Amino acid sequence: MSTQAALKPTAVSDEEYQARIEAAKAALGDRLAILGHHYQREEVYRHAHYTGDSLMLSRQAAASQADFIVFCGVHFMAEVADILSRPEQVVILPDLSAGCSMADMANLAKVERAWRELGEVLGDADAAITPVTYINSAADLKAFCGRHGGIVCTSSNARAVLEWSYERRGKVLFFPDQHLGRNTAHTMGMPLDDMVVWDFDRPLGGLTPEQIRAARLILWKGFCSVHQMFRPEHIDRFLEQHPGTRVIAHPECSFEVCRKAEFVGSTEYIIRTIAESAPGTRWLVGTELNLVQRLHERFSHEGKSVHFMSPTICMCSTMFRIDARHLCESLENLVAGRIVNRIKVPADEAQEARTALDRMLAL
Ligand code: 13P
Ligand code: SF4
Repeated sequence: MSTQAALKPTAVSDEEYQARIEAAKAALGDRLAILGHHYQREEVYRHAHYTGDSLMLSRQAAASQADFIVFCGVHFMAEVADILSRPEQVVILPDLSAGCSMADMANLAKVERAWRELGEVLGDADAAITPVTYINSAADLKAFCGRHGGIVCTSSNARAVLEWSYERRGKVLFFPDQHLGRNTAHTMGMPLDDMVVWDFDRPLGGLTPEQIRAARLILWKGFCSVHQMFRPEHIDRFLEQHPGTRVIAHPECSFEVCRKAEFVGSTEYIIRTIAESAPGTRWLVGTELNLVQRLHERFSHEGKSVHFMSPTICMCSTMFRIDARHLCESLENLVAGRIVNRIKVPADEAQEARTALDRMLAL
């Protein structure tokens, strides 16, 4: 073999990765559980032992008996799996750079500053406000909620969580996704006038003390860069061309999009609603592209047509980081006795975060 040939990296085909993943799964047997979020690429998703939305995957992680939980999703999901599993179980995120840009829009320093400033206006913030963090957030923010009588929510239980929160205190600070907070509270009957947006880069969130005192819901100015791409005019245009289309959206979409959608819910809810619809139904779906493509392929034989809401391609680039190579390498490392890319939340933080997660799971 020439030196040049020896130095050339060997390309591994998709088929080869698929076969190696299968072999590693077989070698690890019951010691392994692969959890896969619905936004994962097909080449990875097909290997998951369990798939689901964030709530289902959290429950699955809590119930898992496996030694190794390989999480095909994003960083906050793997953190939740670590917090809810037993200490001796190992949680792996195949690519550590798979984060969530929305989760990154809130951090502990900024939330603590908001809490302090809100306390200056309202007296004792702990007595006046329930902090609610969307599960798309770092573990230290879940711990913050645990410490301050707060709770975690997902896109599938946000309403129950807000009801729980208002039974305890008159106001809610909701972070990091303003849209999930606004859409959920509005469907509960709260007028938009009772909500304010907290701009975390400005003193007092850019609000006046009067606005803070009057508000019932304080929404962190965060958003999902994928779901913000869907616009109400996309729905209008599609319906003009295809009247009778059913419209379904994830609650991370804007208020205007959710108002126009007939159905709004989590990724699991979207799958279930389309699965249960009559053959021949046409759907326009406002959520991540990998899921919409999978739905299109899964239901076309029933005569259902599933369309992506945006005319431009928008996918979750961080979810997309987990590919067959990363999954394969994670599993083969485990087979070889090497633990690589472990997600481990510090024990004290995990304990407080668990308090907030347990409140959610008890609902
Ligand atoms: P689900 O919990 O609905 O699956 O949503 C997770 C997510 O990150 C959506 O962007
Ligand atoms: Fe985060 Fe949006 Fe990706 Fe969901 S789709 S993981 S909210 S960036």
